[in-house]
Parts: sequence; C-alpha cells; structure tokens
Amino acid sequence: MSVSDGESTLITGIGELVSNDGDQGAFAAMTDAALVIAGGKVAWTGPAARAPAAGTVVDAAGRAVLPGFADSHAHLVFAGERSAEFAARMAGRPYRAGGILGTVEATRAASDAVLRANLRRLVAEMLRQGTTTFECKSGYGLTVPDEARGLALAAEITPEVTYLGAHVVPPEFAADPAGYVDLVCGPMLDACAPAARWVDVFCEDGAFGADEAAAVLAAGQAAGLDARVHANQLGPGPGVRVAAEAGAASADHCTFLTDDDVDALTSTPVVATLLPGVEFSCRQPYPQARRLLDAGATVALATDCNPGSSFTSSMPFCIALAVREMRMTTEEAVWAATAGGARALRRTDVGHLGVGARADLIMLDAPSHAYLAYRPGVPQIAAVWQAGILVAGTVP
Ligand code: NIG
Ligand code: FE
Repeated sequence: MSVSDGESTLITGIGELVSNDGDQGAFAAMTDAALVIAGGKVAWTGPAARAPAAGTVVDAAGRAVLPGFADSHAHLVFAGERSAEFAARMAGRPYRAGGILGTVEATRAASDAVLRANLRRLVAEMLRQGTTTFECKSGYGLTVPDEARGLALAAEITPEVTYLGAHVVPPEFAADPAGYVDLVCGPMLDACAPAARWVDVFCEDGAFGADEAAAVLAAGQAAGLDARVHANQLGPGPGVRVAAEAGAASADHCTFLTDDDVDALTSTPVVATLLPGVEFSCRQPYPQARRLLDAGATVALATDCNPGSSFTSSMPFCIALAVREMRMTTEEAVWAATAGGARALRRTDVGHLGVGARADLIMLDAPSHAYLAYRPGVPQIAAVWQAGILVAGTVP
C-alpha cells in the first residue's frame, strides 16, 4: 500500500501496540510495531520493520500505543460539588441516592455558561487522560426545560448523549412519583429525545422500581432512543433483568448480582459495565468482575464521573482499581476500558486500532499497557490523537 501523501502520519518504534483486533475483537497486542494514520483513520498496522512511508513520522521510541479509552458512563452536566458528603461518607455515613437532589438544586440554579464551563473542564480533563469517546447523561435537571438544557449542552460535545430524566423523583413530585414517571415518559421525553441517542433509568430502591423503569425504557425506545440502565448498584434488585428484557446495550454498576442476573448478562448481548470508582468513593464491595468474565459476560469499565458517587474522570484510575481490586488481568481491564466501552455504546469505529478504525489513540509514557495499573495515580498519557489529530500531550 502507499500512504505517503502529506496528510498521513507514521508512528513507528511502538514498544507495544494494543490493537484489540484479535479474534472477534479480542485483546491483541504486537511488539516492535508501527501504525499509519490517514484521513483520520487507521490505515495500516504491522511490524515497524515493514512500515510504509508517510508524510509525517513519529518515533515512539519504545512507548506503548493503545486505543483511546471509551468511557461509556458519565454524568458531566451539573453545578456545585459534594465534598462534604464524601467526607461524611468516609467518616461512616452510607451513600444514598438522596444526595443527588443537592446537585439537582445547584444545577437548576446555574446559568448555561456555568454548566457549559463545568462540562468542558471535565471533558478536557478526560481527554488529557486518554478518553477519546465518552457518554454524557442528563439527570440533574429533572424539569422539562432543565433536562432539555442538559442534553443540549451534552450534545455540543459528544454524540453519546443520554436522557436520564428518570434519575430520581424530584422533590416537587415527592407525593406523586407516578405523575413524575408520566412526565418523564411524556412531555419531558418529547422535549429531550431530539438531542439524545440513549435513554437511561436509575432502577434502585429510592429511585425507580422495575415497572417504572420498564415503562421509561419502553417510552424512550418508542421515541427512537436505545436503552441503558443503572442496575444493581446499592443492593440486589431488578435492574439487570429489566435491562435484559428491554434489550438494553448495557447494565451499569452490576455490584450486587444474583446467579439469574449473571445468566441474563451471559445469555443476552447486554454489556456489564462496571464502575469501580463508585465502590472506591462509596467504600462498597467491588463488583465481582471475575464471576462475570469467567461466565462469559462482556465487561466494560467506565468512570461514572459525577459529583456524588464517583468524582473521577480517570479511566487509568478505573483500570488500576479493576486490576488490583477486581482481579481483572491487565489485558482484560484495558480491553474493558476501550473495546468494552465501545460495545456498551454499540460503536464499532472506536475501541480498537484495526485498519479502518477511527484514529483515536493514546501513546503512554511507558512501554506496555500494564503500566496503567502498575503505576497507579501517575500521569502516563504522553499524547492523545482523536480522528488522527493530536489533541492532547506532545509527541516525542
Ligand atoms: O451512577 N446511581 C445513580 N447516579 C449516579 C450517582 C449520582 C450522584 O450521586 O449524584 C451513579 O452513581
Ligand atoms: Fe451513573
């Protein structure tokens, strides 16, 4: 092949190239590799010794190159912060869904400019840490105009926009939760669906029950949205079953699972998205990743970045937790944070570096993917490309 036009970039001298283009998209890595970017896509990968010429040449000097992270679960449109709640929790108070309402109040009171600035600061933070695809939910507005505003802001920065009007019942509907579900499935959905790709519901004690969750997902699907579910976070419950019955792309959290839940996650295409930042920040038991992986479930890792249960935007941190605390191998954790996240978003163009993939990639300041868990808390993302453009860091 020839890619030696002025627009192409050859990255050579790659110590380890994680491509995730093994059998059926499995984890795969090659040493002494090279990769060519052309037209914003991966045009060639192979041994460095056989690399074609290109317009620009970058020498990775033995560093690792990986697909950009796909963070499939984040709540980024909000105002205010809840550090006092976190501190109280660390002093022994349990996490409850009720804290969400403090953020709802602050978010409703905030201007568009404040919400946009907060959102963009978090997105810049994510990008610097290697996240090149991310999902963003509403859910801190909980009125028709506030939910629509959250989604419009999210749609400015990602196509993976999720309508989460069914996050919790807001105080003005405390005496009429059924009326709130009607609003979420009716006028609020009408106002929100045009900006969204996904519908989500927090199916949990203190939020929405099985029937309510199923109704929210069905209404969203009828409006053209695809489903994803907050499931089994705070205790055993119907969330995973509801997700499977709705044909959701993903059941997220999966912290408390019965054998039937594990069966549902292995016998359907629902991705089990694990969010270990939550268990870290809420001091809860971690999800049983090994149980899911050994049973054959598809597992994704995501941050759940939000001001309450997990205020981290760092996929490397989640990878380190998954390896250390959830006994995922370094390969499994990196796959779950890249290809797994892409599957949870039903994306085939990202999460891997096969030829034709979008050229979303990261270069580590380290020779292998294992360093993401081996050196926790250390900034190791040297450079980030999105659709072939260097968007963060510097090339050596
Ligand atoms: O995914 N579980 C529900 N929603 C978020 C928490 C949001 C918050 O505490 O503000 C979550 O953990
Ligand atoms: Fe969440």
